[in-house]
Amino acid sequence: MKLIVEKDYDGMSEVAAKIMIDEIKNNPNINLGLATGSTTKGLYKRIIDAHERGKVDFSNVKSFNLDEYIGLDGTHPSSYRYFMDTNLFNHININKNKTYIPDGKAKNLETYTKDYDELIEKKGGIDLQILGIGTNGHIAFIEPSDEIAIDTSVVKLTENTIKDNSRFFNTLDEVPKTAISMGISGILKAEKIILMASGKHKREAINNFLKSEKISTYLPASFLYLHRDVTVIIDEAVYKE
Ligand code: F6R
Repeated sequence: MKLIVEKDYDGMSEVAAKIMIDEIKNNPNINLGLATGSTTKGLYKRIIDAHERGKVDFSNVKSFNLDEYIGLDGTHPSSYRYFMDTNLFNHININKNKTYIPDGKAKNLETYTKDYDELIEKKGGIDLQILGIGTNGHIAFIEPSDEIAIDTSVVKLTENTIKDNSRFFNTLDEVPKTAISMGISGILKAEKIILMASGKHKREAINNFLKSEKISTYLPASFLYLHRDVTVIIDEAVYKE
C-alpha cells in the first residue's frame, strides 16, 4: 500500500487527478470505477479543467459507479446519477451511454444487481477504481457489520451513514434507507485502486484503517489490504494527531 499525505483537500485532489489523467493517457480505452461524494468533487473539477485544456480525452472511456440510492432516479438532485452528470459527465466528452451507475429504480433488484457485476465483467473489468471512505470506515456502501456482501447487492444504510449523507438532502427523513452497492469482490477485482480522504472528520476511520493489522467486516476498508495496488491519498487534517 502506498500512502501519500498532501497539505490539504486541493493537494489531495491534485495528486489524484494527476494519477487518473496519466492512467487515461496510458490507456485511452480505460474502464474507470467512480465514487460520488464531497471527497471526489475536487478531483472531478480538475479532470474537467484538464479536459478543457485538451489534456485528456474520454471518447473511448467507460465508467462504472459504485453505488446508488434505491428509490431515486437520475433526475433526483441527490441521486448519484445526478451527481455524476453535474460534477463530471456533462462537462467532458464521455459517451453517457457508457457511463454505468446502478439504477435506483430497477424493478427486480435481485436480477439487476447480478447483472451489474456481469456487465462490468463483460466490458472488461475496472482498470482504475476511485474510492472515498465513510466516517464509519465504509467503502462504496459496504457498511460495517457482522458480514459484508461479496457481490453487488442491496444494502441497508447505517444510521451513521444516513446522518452523514443527510447534508445532500433537505431533511434526514428524505435520505433513502437502502442502496445498491458494489460488493467487496467487485472492488478488489479492479487493477488499481485509489482511496481518498480529507478533513478531520475522517481521521478516526483513516487511522483505524492505516493501523489495521487484521481484516474486519467492521472496517470494510481493511479488505483493501488484500489488494496489491492501492494508493491512499489523504491530507494532513486526516493524518495529524
Ligand atoms: C459514494 C461512496 C461512498 C463515499 C463515502 C465518502 O459513491 O461510495 O463510499 O465515498 O461515503 O463520502 P464523502 O466523500 O461525501 O465524505
